[in-house]
Amino acid sequence: MTSLTFFPTLIHAAQLQRTGWRKFNNQLLRECHQLRADDAAGRRWSKQNYPGGYTSYNSVSRMHQVSPTFAALERKLDRHVRAYARSLELDVEARPLAMTDCWVNIMPQQVVHGLHLHPLSTISGTYYVQTPKGSPGIKFEDPRLDRFMAAPPRMTDCRPQNRPWIILPADAGKVVLFESWLRHEVAPNPVRSERISISFNYSWF
Ligand SMILES: [Fe+2]
Repeated sequence: MTSLTFFPTLIHAAQLQRTGWRKFNNQLLRECHQLRADDAAGRRWSKQNYPGGYTSYNSVSRMHQVSPTFAALERKLDRHVRAYARSLELDVEARPLAMTDCWVNIMPQQVVHGLHLHPLSTISGTYYVQTPKGSPGIKFEDPRLDRFMAAPPRMTDCRPQNRPWIILPADAGKVVLFESWLRHEVAPNPVRSERISISFNYSWF
């Protein structure tokens, strides 16, 4: 008997580049800190919507159009997004699949990023700038979970493909891409150092 696999959920996880990423991250890190210092509107918004943390999601959400360093990140990410779109076999030739949003997230100790998805986008992702040892990864939920009303639980030691959720570790220098409809979250940061990431959306519409 053979079991076939259909309707997969593909997630792209790779090093942004083979070499030189530490130097590149140092520059990104400086700019993330500077942005937080300068962006009073973002700090106010974060106080209400991202308690204890800072995000430029609602204030400076097109960093790739503001900073040459982030524009360089966009070019590096473009290659990954193209490869990911190829592995999904998306037919996106008719118009560009282009970065529309790019913002900074800083998570000090105890800050959490609740379950969410990225509406009005095609491919979303995160690039990790600073990930102190012990800081949380990104947790993805099986998109079919709401249909599993009466499904038995999975074996605790089942293969990752069959788990109802998975956590990918957050490692500085790594990029993670997913389709924008896939729900995800980040658990509270248990360590004292800040976890810093850059999130982004690519849209085809
Ligand atoms: Fe997200």
